[in-house]
Parts: sequence; C-alpha cells; structure tokens
Amino acid sequence: MPPVNIEKIKNDEIKRQNDFCCRIFVCASTGCISSQSMEVIDALEEAVKSHDLENEIEIVPTGCMGLCARGPLVRVEVAGQKPVLYETVDPMFARLVVSEHIRPALAKSVKDYAFKLPDFLKNRTVPLDIDFFAQQQKVVLANAGDIDPESIEAYIARDGYKALEKILLNMSPEQIIEQIEKSGLRGRGGGGFPVAKKWTFARQSQAEYKYVICNGDEGDPGAYMDRSILEADPHAVLEGVLIAAYATGAQEGIFYIRAEYPLAIERMKKAIRQAKRNKLLGKNILGTEFSFDCQIRLGAGAFVCGEETALIASIEGRRGTPRPRPPYPSVKGVWDMPTCLNNVETLANVPSILRNGGDWFAQWGTGSSKGTKVFALTGKVINSGLIEIPMGLSLREVVEKIGGGSSTAKEIKAVQTGGPSGGVIKREDLDLPVCYDRFQQAGSIMGSGGMIVMDQDDSMVDIASFYLGFTVDESCGKCAPCRIGGKQLLDLLEKISQGKGTKKDIESIKLLCEAMRSASLCGLGQTAPNPVVSTLTYFENEYLEKINSEVCK
Ligand SMILES: Cc1cc2nc3c(=O)[nH]c(=O)nc-3n(C[C@H](O)[C@H](O)[C@H](O)COP(=O)(O)O)c2cc1C
Ligand code: SF4
Repeated sequence: MPPVNIEKIKNDEIKRQNDFCCRIFVCASTGCISSQSMEVIDALEEAVKSHDLENEIEIVPTGCMGLCARGPLVRVEVAGQKPVLYETVDPMFARLVVSEHIRPALAKSVKDYAFKLPDFLKNRTVPLDIDFFAQQQKVVLANAGDIDPESIEAYIARDGYKALEKILLNMSPEQIIEQIEKSGLRGRGGGGFPVAKKWTFARQSQAEYKYVICNGDEGDPGAYMDRSILEADPHAVLEGVLIAAYATGAQEGIFYIRAEYPLAIERMKKAIRQAKRNKLLGKNILGTEFSFDCQIRLGAGAFVCGEETALIASIEGRRGTPRPRPPYPSVKGVWDMPTCLNNVETLANVPSILRNGGDWFAQWGTGSSKGTKVFALTGKVINSGLIEIPMGLSLREVVEKIGGGSSTAKEIKAVQTGGPSGGVIKREDLDLPVCYDRFQQAGSIMGSGGMIVMDQDDSMVDIASFYLGFTVDESCGKCAPCRIGGKQLLDLLEKISQGKGTKKDIESIKLLCEAMRSASLCGLGQTAPNPVVSTLTYFENEYLEKINSEVCK
C-alpha cells in the first residue's frame, strides 16, 4: 500500500469544511461536559434537523476553549460574518441560537447578523477581543476549541503530521535535536530540564530497543493542563512522541495516563487507532525505514507515580516507588532500556517547533525560559480557566488582565504556583515575569502550570497545611525523611493552626524542612516543604498571629 498522502487529506478536509455555511463549535472537554455540553450538542443537532439545515451547518465538538468558568461555551461561525461566542449555554438556549441567530444569519440578504443579535442572545455573548483571549499566545493550544479532537482529518487540515513528514523525509535525528536546542524548549512537567539535552542522552545510549514515554499522570491539585491538551489535541501529542522516537532512535511509545482521565484516554486511544489506519504508526511510516508503535498504560491514582522512576516501576508491574538516580531513564529506563520520558505539554510543543523552526519558538520568552506555557488559572480570579501565555509576561498581566482580577472584590494576597512542590508569590512581586529562574528566585517554582490566586481571606498557614497534607498522604513511605519528617511537619502546622503552637515550633519546622529537602530520596519529599518555607518566608506574621491568638492564651 502506498504511504498516506497528507496534503490530499488536508485539502479534502478543508474543502469539506468550506462546504458548510455555518460551523458551530461546542466545548466538549471534561469541564464543559460536566455542565451539560453533550446535551447542548444533542439540542443543537435536533434544532438543525428541525430547521432542515443539516447540509448547511456543521456541529463540531471541540477540546477546551479556555474560559472554563463560563462553560458550556459555544462559538458560532457563519461564513463571512463575525464569530460569536456564547457562554453558559443550556439545551434550551442552544435551540434559540439556531432559530434566532443562525437561521436569520444564513439568510442571503443579511451581511453580518452578529451585529443585530436580539438582546436576550447578546447578553450571553463573550466579546472575542477581551484581554482573556488577546493577551494569550497559543502554540500548544492552537487547535484547542477549533477542531474536533476525534478527527485525524481535522488535525491534518491544521498542518498536523506535516512536521513528521518533514523530519522523516528531510532531517537527520541530529538536525531535529539541533532545532529543539535552538527553540530552548524545557520540560513542562515541572523540572524544566532542557529537552535537547535529554534527547541527546537518550540518542547516545546504545541499545537494541528504546522507548519513549509520554507522562500524562498529572496529579497536582488544581492542575488540568495535560488533561486538557490530551482531550483537545491528542494527535499533536502523538506526533510529538513520534518525532521524539525518531530523534532518539526508539521503537516503542507508552502513554502513561492517569485512570481518572477517562476522556483523555478515550481520545488518545482513538488517535492511535486513526494513526494506525493511516499508516502513521506501524511499519515503514510514510514509506521510510522508520517503524514505531504505541500503547497506553493507566496510572492508578498515586501522585508519586508521576515521578519518572516510580512511573517506570508502575509500567513494569512493580509497586510505584521511586529509585535513586543515576542511572537516569535516558540511560536505563523501562525494562532497563534507554527511555526518553517527557511530559504531555513538552511533547505537544514539538510538532510546531519542527514545522516552524526552533527560532520561531524562541521568539517568545526570557533568556532562560523560551516559548509559551499553559497554566490552569484558578482560585479567586474572575476568568478562571485554561490559558497559554508567552513566557516573560508578568504575573500581574496574567492575574489582572487575562484573569480579570479578583473575583471577590478583596485585594489579592498572593498567587500559588507549582502546586505541592511550589510556593506563594506575594502581591508585591506580581510584576515578576513568568520564567523558571525568576519564580525560583522568588521562592516558588513554575512547576507544571497550576496557578491559584488567593485573596485576603486565605490563610497562608492553612494553604501550607493543605499542600503538606496532600504530600504526606501521597508519600510512598520508602524513605524516612519524607515518611516521618512530613508527618511531624504536618503535626506542627496543625498545632499552630489550632492556636496551640509556640515560637519554638517554628524553629522545629525550619529544621524539619531543611532535613526533608536535603535527605529525601525523590522530588516529592525534597519539595514537599516548599509551600511551608515559602509561606513562612513571606507571611511569618500569620504564623505568629496564630501562635499569639486567644486560643493559645
Ligand atoms: C512526585 C512527583 C510527581 C510528578 N508528576 C509528574 C506528572 O504528573 N507529570 C509529569 O510530566 N511529570 C511529573 N513529574 C516529573 C517527572 O519525574 C519527569 O521529570 C517529567 O515527566 C519529565 O518530563 P519533562 O522533562 O518533559 O518535564 C513528577 C515528579 C515528582 C517528583
Ligand atoms: S521522598 Fe517520599 S515519595 Fe519519594 S521515595 Fe521517599 S518516601 Fe517515597
């Protein structure tokens, strides 16, 4: 059978899409589905049918459109007219959108019906030029909300698999790694390790068989970037895995996705099936010598299984606990074979970088942090949701412009970044640019992209206790500094929270934090004290207030 003709699939799909006078995009990500977006799709289909408009209107279920707080979101695009985005759509409202917006808008005499929307519809629209959208830069999320993630043709129509074709036909593995190096891409799973370096180590490891693992175990409280990427654009992640495999010399890929993400798993399964059917997976891909196959393995809900060595143990059917490194997975990974292990977002960046060149990606960002970063912006902020911003944008712009500021009318106190391994960045430091190094200097980390905005009502002692409680629950118990130190630290924090603490307890907390950081075996224990250290550094007064509280006296 001849190799698949990507250009032909692209042109056919673009033609098919252009045959519709109107396309209705409905967010079908986990967030919007939980607020009835599948029922909205049913209602739209019924309405389209009852108005006999099936040949003119296409309904496209998509991945996350970003403005999660206002879902379900529906975007109406009538050919030649301004797109309109509706928020908090329910099935009844969806029927009205078809009868009162789309039907009149399709009438030949109407130039742009969007300008004339009746008030009851207009009141539920979100202007597409608001800062929430305007300040973002979409690379990883370029297709999210714009394509049906379950259609390989839709992905190809947006230049999907073009990068794979380019590298397989025209580039050596070394040239690929060179472009990744130029791009400055660093691992998005939390550690920020340079991707070109990791791929070089994996490439240089001599072995008959090598693996690529895509880490989709995302477990930080408040984080849902990787889930959204997998749900919105699974083929982009798959294409990233294929490119990583070719660059490092791997024959097999494993998607490790947490079992609590059923929709992401389903869409990735479908993407793999479609890629196989189109001979983009399997033997002699695109008629070249390159052969590669993939499988999905499920994570069973332990946060520590996101740590690379624990993840590998879990794939091998052993208990998911970390082991000391070196050897690193790129030298000795799954089944003792060299394994290139990267995060979902890291891999989703790869096709765009190879398509457009490393310099293109490096146009955004700071000296040490290039490109864009996806964040789950949550907490006391008006526009909570999934965002992608150019590195270097200030936290203030993220919170005040994209986020729309405090949702409680109370002053923002701090922003928590990096989840249980991170810390708080106080209000006075909001002008910090989003950057690996600058966040670290401020006592936090960028982490994988959780960003929680807190106001004056949020107690920093409670925040520290919450995150520490999480890591204590999730500790695998293999090493004493984490297993025992974490519990002792949490007991001290709870004592202080209850107004029973003393100043001496603060000294003990500092000592325990230091011991855990320096002596724990893996990143979980080493970083678990971070939320405590960070809140103590910037908000020690809140700890002292609890100590000196009435309850204590
Ligand atoms: C406790 C713990 C949990 C982790 N969880 C994840 C995770 O869910 N997803 C992820 O990509 N990386 C996670 N990591 C980081 C991985 O060990 C690894 O560094 C990362 O997947 C490498 O990919 P990257 O270089 O593309 O970031 C975790 C690390 C630790 C210590
Ligand atoms: S630091 Fe904690 S999670 Fe990591 S190996 Fe030790 S006990 Fe397990």
